[in-house]
Amino acid sequence: MTDIQSPTLPNPTLLIPVNPAIESYMRGLLGKTDHPILTVMENLARERNFPIVDRLVGAFLETQARSINAKRIFEFGSGYGYSAYWFAKAVGEQGQVICTDGDPLNKEQAEQFLSEANLWDRVDFHTGIAQTLFAQTDGVFDICYNDVDKGDYPEIWQIAKDRIRPGGLYIADNVLWHGRVAMVEFEDVVPGWTEAIRDHNEQIFADPDFDSYINPTRDGVIVARKKL
Ligand SMILES: C[S@@+](CC[C@H](N)C(=O)[O-])C[C@H]1O[C@@H](n2cnc3c(N)ncnc32)[C@H](O)[C@@H]1O
Repeated sequence: MTDIQSPTLPNPTLLIPVNPAIESYMRGLLGKTDHPILTVMENLARERNFPIVDRLVGAFLETQARSINAKRIFEFGSGYGYSAYWFAKAVGEQGQVICTDGDPLNKEQAEQFLSEANLWDRVDFHTGIAQTLFAQTDGVFDICYNDVDKGDYPEIWQIAKDRIRPGGLYIADNVLWHGRVAMVEFEDVVPGWTEAIRDHNEQIFADPDFDSYINPTRDGVIVARKKL
């Protein structure tokens, strides 16, 4: 554990890191050229209350992947392929995104959506426990992306960090957990998840092999770059 100051906010109201009006402005700046299937996927997320990264973070993931010329990406927790859409675009025709999810129905939907966007041939989607599927792969990755159940975050960091190439990235979504990480009193969605996310974030910032930063957009996205 690092010597991070104890959270000092006594207010149990959840916090939105970036003012929604500012996020709306930022979203308005994004290009309008993305595939129409994205809107279908976003509408489905709203209907089912399914937690996708949404467009601002999606565009951020694509930018991160392109900035290091990523060609091989592992996703822990792919849902029905929304975040994979952005990574698959970034890796190009020769690249590969290995997707994982516990729910076979998500794989079926991902195939349908990503085929429509002409990206399915860059995706290798497996169903099961992401940690187990990761252990069945070889070699290093340009990016390991973590979006599984939050109680598993520290474990995912531990298994992923040694399998990222120098100059590669570890990225995880929801690391501010709607502000709970900075609060004294809060209602946990699942007992222990907030503490797991805090532990995960502290381990990453304390790791001398990585340069780390949290982008506070939406629910907070951590990016840790392995030093060369
Ligand atoms: C937040 S959603 C992923 C959303 C996706 N990254 C996106 O933005 O489009 C989390 C997904 O991870 C899956 N999941 C959670 N824990 C998992 C685990 N340990 N192994 C495999 N899948 C897991 C859930 O079934 C769910 O579909």
